Amino acid sequence: MCGIVGYIGERQAQSILLNCLHRLEYRGYDSCGIAVGSDVEVYKDVVRVKVLEKTSPSLTGVIGIGHTRWATHGEPSQVNAHPHCDCTGKIAVVHNGVINNFQKLRQQLTSEGHNFISETDTEVIPHLIEKYYDGDLEKAVETALREVDGSYAIIVLMAGEPKLVAARKDSPLIIGVGDRENFIASDVPAILNYTSRVIYLEDDDIGVVTTESIKVRRDGAEVNRKEHKILWSVKDAQKAGYEHFMLKEIHEQPKVIRDTISGYVSMAEPIADLALLGDAGLEDMLILACGTSYHAALIGKYIIEELIRIPVRAELASEFNYWGQTSARSRTIVITQSGETADALKAMKRLKGEGCRVVAITNVVGSTASRIADQIVYTRAGPEISVAATKSFIAQLMALYWLTLPYSKIDIRRLDSLVTGLRQLPSKVQQVLDNEAVISECAKQLSKYQDVFFISRGINFPVALEGALKLKEISYIHAEGYAAGELKHGPFALLGSDTPVVAIVAQDNTYEAMLTNIKEIKARRSPVIAVVEEGDEEVGELVDSVISVPQVDAIFSPVINTVVMQLLAYYTAKQRGCPIDFPRNLAKSVTVE
Ligand code: BG6
Repeated sequence: MCGIVGYIGERQAQSILLNCLHRLEYRGYDSCGIAVGSDVEVYKDVVRVKVLEKTSPSLTGVIGIGHTRWATHGEPSQVNAHPHCDCTGKIAVVHNGVINNFQKLRQQLTSEGHNFISETDTEVIPHLIEKYYDGDLEKAVETALREVDGSYAIIVLMAGEPKLVAARKDSPLIIGVGDRENFIASDVPAILNYTSRVIYLEDDDIGVVTTESIKVRRDGAEVNRKEHKILWSVKDAQKAGYEHFMLKEIHEQPKVIRDTISGYVSMAEPIADLALLGDAGLEDMLILACGTSYHAALIGKYIIEELIRIPVRAELASEFNYWGQTSARSRTIVITQSGETADALKAMKRLKGEGCRVVAITNVVGSTASRIADQIVYTRAGPEISVAATKSFIAQLMALYWLTLPYSKIDIRRLDSLVTGLRQLPSKVQQVLDNEAVISECAKQLSKYQDVFFISRGINFPVALEGALKLKEISYIHAEGYAAGELKHGPFALLGSDTPVVAIVAQDNTYEAMLTNIKEIKARRSPVIAVVEEGDEEVGELVDSVISVPQVDAIFSPVINTVVMQLLAYYTAKQRGCPIDFPRNLAKSVTVE
């Protein structure tokens, strides 16, 4: 997810572009760039916008485009930063999205004499436009985009052309209507300082924007798009109207699941060659991580053990660094959202030093982890602003399912049903989000207590750990995640009317045992909030509150139940008036040991 912007009018474009880019950095901030004027002068670098503002030379012109990047193809570098140009340097393009068939297009264009300088997917677009340009820029853009497979929001600037051409497909793009000037941007926050009159482009629309006019074309014909008046403040707009980044990121998860899965080509092409990690067959596996990513590692253990049927160790990287044993026969996966967590990086360096090969699952292209790893599996959660990890965790689970399924030792019908189940997860998660009000009511109860237990069994035990961590992180309530079968070996002593228990009860081989545990807890007067599958009446009779979730294959239940845990923590913290996005004493990525 990147941020793109365009300006055409009577004012100097450079400062306006940089100002707008500032407001789009929540979409990506690993590098940025601008192209200004009828000579298309380009300046870009691996810096934040506030630095580019100081280092960029004065570029003259009342027309321009800009970009702030969240790398997907090609790590952050000056040459991979946007805008990207054609061979003549006269056509500049900024892009947000992913071009799936860029390799094929690149080979084709290279064979036709085009010279590519970056590793990005985007660079094929200006070259395609150059190929089809015969005096009509919007026609050349239309023709070029017919060859592109993937998602895009683009803005095109061409030397000598007093217009900007914009297009979108599966990536957001808006036009800001001004007085003798107009703006184009990925999102409303960018332009709210200049206008609150906005036109939303739809998929497959092409916008042709000049100082005087805005035309929208579709399939070669002009179409009418309604103008809207925006009432939000800039800050609100960055959160897309949500009160906190965390709630926005929780609601982005159906899209994050789709994006992450669509990034992995097909089940036939494993996203990481686990066999490559060692000369012997798949015998055992080690997964290392910290914080929320460690809970993903624990769930990964259950997924891999169930589907590939080999022993898996999931360990805390910080502990592994001082105690962990490796064997050359182990395959190692390190999970780290930021790719910069010191404990995770230290473990990777140690493993490499001992001749082990490492797969990294990370959300940040070009991060240190992606440089150290032998193979990288990128999640596509986009930038996660809220300190408490939510969408990145769900994206990590998607990567673990997709990583494992090609190696699974299950029959083809089960494999097919799991692939179908995976593709249905976005709508199932949406159902949980639609049930938010019920979860918020339960949170009101929870917000009154100072000590809470989260319990479950099997593949949902790590979800109980994650539920407790989320509550600790943002609501400052002391919470413990516990394997339900362990509660009677000590923590029972803490139970009572002041210590509620959140029980995750999945429809799997642990169901009966969970019922027994809940009866034992109720016998000790603790209030119980149970998360159960739709249609489960039995648990409801035993507990104080019930949160129903849609039915999914047991192996996918952690995805569904985690979203409930995220919302429960969010609404509890909200009830307690906590600073949800930036809780005290925490950081998004801890780069020191
Ligand atoms: C902490 C974050 O600093 O690091 C957590 O607050 C995160 O949200 C943990 O889970 C691990 O980070 P990463 O980037 O290695 O997954």
